[in-house]
Amino acid sequence: MALFTVFGNPIAHSLSPQIHALFAAQFQLTNSYTRSLCSPGQFAATVSRFFRTGGAGANVTLPFKEAAVQVATHLSERAREAGAVNTLVPLGQGQLLGDNTDGLGLVRDLQTAGVRLSGLEVILLGAGGAARGVLPALMNAGVKQITLVNRTRARAGQLAGDFPQYPLKIVGARDLQPLAEPYLIVNATSASLTGAKLQLPKEVLGSAACVYDMMYSGRPTAFLQEAAQAGAGEIRDGLGMLVEQAGVAFSIWHGGLEPDTAPVLAKIRRDLL
Ligand code: ATR
Repeated sequence: MALFTVFGNPIAHSLSPQIHALFAAQFQLTNSYTRSLCSPGQFAATVSRFFRTGGAGANVTLPFKEAAVQVATHLSERAREAGAVNTLVPLGQGQLLGDNTDGLGLVRDLQTAGVRLSGLEVILLGAGGAARGVLPALMNAGVKQITLVNRTRARAGQLAGDFPQYPLKIVGARDLQPLAEPYLIVNATSASLTGAKLQLPKEVLGSAACVYDMMYSGRPTAFLQEAAQAGAGEIRDGLGMLVEQAGVAFSIWHGGLEPDTAPVLAKIRRDLL
């Protein structure tokens, strides 16, 4: 039986075991996929033990995605760009590839939702690890421009400084105006965790073609409810991104097998209610 796990802290809430079990069932595979709680000082040792004892692949979630960059002996281009690793692949002889499937997960989920990214304007809220992780994938999917909005402007400046190759604009939340062309808003802040309100002008939310919150819960986040009330074209939460990033990781671990993500998302969504 092939052994997989997800490392994080906290980890009890992780839906990855269910998602990967549903993927494995599509191919009649009897994988084991567990949750591994790591204490901060023990992350590298725990990862190394898992792979020494036969681990076939692992995911990494908060707060270890940056630490996992150091644990990997090789990095994919997208993990290097994102500065974060969410997928580890054993290469043999103690070598580990660090990859990042979060950005592609978001892009795939947006495409599933019918959002055409090519030439689209994007307003990206947040400048932490989550924003950094998806920014390169959005640019590589052909978006025209990204407007970065962050509570702490200097942090948005830092993020933009790390991606001089991309056309990024920094605007304060209160100074935002609806864009002239169709646009997508992606909330990559952690504000939805606490239900804190982002101070975006109502007309900016209401004129968006799509408003996406990378967070999810059983019901629409406060941010998505606000966007829907303001009249946004479409709202979508991050559950689809979670399933899609898992699908990309599954494919990497299983020699290119592509799981059907739609029924898995539908089932996980039903279970969350
Ligand atoms: P993550 O890895 O989830 O991105 P992070 O690196 O701590 O976590 O970043 C959290 C992001 O959410 C930051 O952009 C943060 O803004 P600041 O840089 O100003 O701290 C943003 N954020 C968190 N709570 C927020 C709130 N109540 N209002 C606005 N932005 C918030």
